[in-house]
Amino acid sequence: MPLTVPQLQQWKSQGRAIAALTATEYTIAEILDSAGIDLLLVGDSLAMVSLGYSTTLPLTLDQIIHHAQAVCRGVKNALVVVDLPFLSYQVSLEQAILSAGRILKETEAQAVKLEGGYPQAIATIERLVQVGIPVMGHVGLTPQAVRQTGYRQQGKDATSAQAIFDQAKAIAKAGAFAIVLENIPSTLAQEITQTLPIPTIGIGAGEYCDGQVLVTHDLLGLSAKIPPFVTPYVNLREIITKAVQQYTSAIHHNHHG
Ligand code: KIV
Repeated sequence: MPLTVPQLQQWKSQGRAIAALTATEYTIAEILDSAGIDLLLVGDSLAMVSLGYSTTLPLTLDQIIHHAQAVCRGVKNALVVVDLPFLSYQVSLEQAILSAGRILKETEAQAVKLEGGYPQAIATIERLVQVGIPVMGHVGLTPQAVRQTGYRQQGKDATSAQAIFDQAKAIAKAGAFAIVLENIPSTLAQEITQTLPIPTIGIGAGEYCDGQVLVTHDLLGLSAKIPPFVTPYVNLREIITKAVQQYTSAIHHNHHG
């Protein structure tokens, strides 16, 4: 049986850390799951790492459902969470319920994630939770707002740090079961983690979170550009390049035609 949302919620009080990674397709998801990852996020970063877009903005709900279905076919143990893509939930509460509902109906994922802590995002989380859809929040750097913020660290000055702190508290109060803290100062992430009753999952937010998430392509050294806060555990780009060069050269040299 896969890890469930209620089980994961107890991990914070049990002092258990959450190891999370992104997944975009079947084979890698099957490997990550067999290796013991706790949580797999079908993140909208798949727009960039798997589909080659320059931002997450073009990704559609149909596309992420297609990838989430493939990921879920490979997963036996991990809790799978799926991102709501840009403009699949911001238009109205009705749109958010229909989009998140499609994810739960058409995939085996157990929860959705949405970005932002502005009042409409809080209302959306509250409404989704009311209809029985578990929601993970996401504050700090929110890549769907890249055209406003760029990919810079957020919460650096006292005013913006306080705003992120308040948003995180509101997201927990609205009923989110966990929250991603992306690219904020470690001290701010630590304060949020100590204050919130729900688990915080950091990415570029220092070590004092209840869990960590990374884009798998960065962890494995597959991405062409790896963010400065990631130390890849292996350089698969180099390993694959060498293997393909050896294969290509063997074919070229052994050709008898
Ligand atoms: O889309 C994604 O991969 C994410 C993680 C970076 C948290 O939202």
